[in-house]
Amino acid sequence: KIGDLDFKVADLSLAEFGRKEITLAEHEMPGLMALRREYSEVNPLKGARIAGSLHMTVQTAVLIETLVALGADVRWVSCNIFSTQDHAAAAVVVGPHGTVEEPKGVSVYAWKGETLTEYWWCTEQMLKWPTADGSVLGPNMILDDGGDVTMLVHKGLQYEKAGVVPPADESDSDEWKVILDLLRNSLATAPTYYSTIAPAIQGVTEETTTGVLRLYQLAAQGELLFPAINVNDSVTKSKFDNKYGCRHSLIDGINRATDVLIGGKVALVAGYGDVGKGSAESLRGQGARVIIAEIDPICALQALMDGFEVATVDTAIERADIVVTTTGNKDIISAEHMQRMKHQAILGNIGHFDNEIDMAGLARIPGIHRLEIKPQVHLWTFASGKTILVLSEGRLLNLGNATGHPSFVMSSSFSNQVIAQIELFTKNGEYAKEVYRLPKALDEKVARIHVEALGGELTKLTKDQAEYIGVDVEGPYKPEHYRY
Ligand code: NAI
Repeated sequence: KIGDLDFKVADLSLAEFGRKEITLAEHEMPGLMALRREYSEVNPLKGARIAGSLHMTVQTAVLIETLVALGADVRWVSCNIFSTQDHAAAAVVVGPHGTVEEPKGVSVYAWKGETLTEYWWCTEQMLKWPTADGSVLGPNMILDDGGDVTMLVHKGLQYEKAGVVPPADESDSDEWKVILDLLRNSLATAPTYYSTIAPAIQGVTEETTTGVLRLYQLAAQGELLFPAINVNDSVTKSKFDNKYGCRHSLIDGINRATDVLIGGKVALVAGYGDVGKGSAESLRGQGARVIIAEIDPICALQALMDGFEVATVDTAIERADIVVTTTGNKDIISAEHMQRMKHQAILGNIGHFDNEIDMAGLARIPGIHRLEIKPQVHLWTFASGKTILVLSEGRLLNLGNATGHPSFVMSSSFSNQVIAQIELFTKNGEYAKEVYRLPKALDEKVARIHVEALGGELTKLTKDQAEYIGVDVEGPYKPEHYRY
């Protein structure tokens, strides 16, 4: 803590470098900068205390400073133990007007290479606004990526009501054991913490497919504590970030991790949703021969039409030099699959959680040996002497081994985030405890800003044409069911 600002980052002296990159990124994030201009007088987020959990990168720094420019009081963590860019975290703490000696920015708790215990500790700190009299003050808004904060609040409240945190059982993951320990400690030291903060939370805006899935499950069970906006399914998010973002950052991660020539290799991509489509295109762009594994016949047919071979992981695993999971599902690559992989084949995941690849199963194989080549790149040697390279310990490799998506595509995603925060915070009474999407007019607004920034020239509909196709001259141009 320096002055009134509490935080924990790797190295505050990296702030100057971070600020330079943030300044470059601002030019590449026209959507966020347009929102700053549009709302600079109004401060629509004044009074908002936003708890943010999203990869603490340079791009996220521009998002955070946009929320602050709109009046919000923000605290932040990364939503992954490997995804923080330490210079960005430092620059956000120092802020545009502070110094290393006198930081004036935002409370960030994030560094690259946290342990799971540290990760959840950071999340807990982020939820606790310091008060002069020591009373409990939590957020009134959540901005989540993957749903960890939302989950923690829901579980914290559930266990406080029950008066007990259940013991871990054998099937629980290491991470879940950490969460249970944290909540047990919270119950012992501050038994009404979540009961106090939960009622004040007006809503959550969720960034990614996996987090959105968790929200719909909570809503279906009638357990969602506050309204939620599904940012992921804005067209200008998932059809851009998930697809074109991964098209950029998947091979960036593989290259920085291994520097192996992708051309000519056989790559196996599990999942052909938005992330899978971008990932497959990025590997093919480098000249890899790409095989897709899918469960959904529609996506499998799309893959075939796009010119990819479609096969199962089981039949294709032995042919692949590079294996990438993109499903958002669990148990895609088993320990048995890994043993069947080619010598020195590369294995990584770009889906949100680390349960797509059975890392625990790999570690349990008799005679297995793990060698760190460099952080987030590990060579696993089987008893036979055969090896495989595993990236980011099975966590999302585009953020673990590289710097995630570039600014321009994140401008589109984060513009939706800012609009969603304003919407839920300023019109809270209009939303029930359900999951909503932003209206199409706002999606088109975000797209328009980015089309203009790229110098694209939009065709204007005549009144006559608009009437003929049954839309307004100013949009929206498509019905809700249109798929893009
Ligand atoms: P999506 O739902 O569009 O695609 C997932 C695809 O995987 C679906 O087509 C589904 O049929 C397929 N699938 C499910 N189980 C499968 C199995 N057992 N075998 C083969 N295919 C299977 O979801 P989206 O948007 O592509 O996201 C995927 C994951 O990536 C999510 O966890 C999401 O949160 C994450 N994500 C990661 C990003 C990153 O930068 N690393 C960016 C955006 C999303």
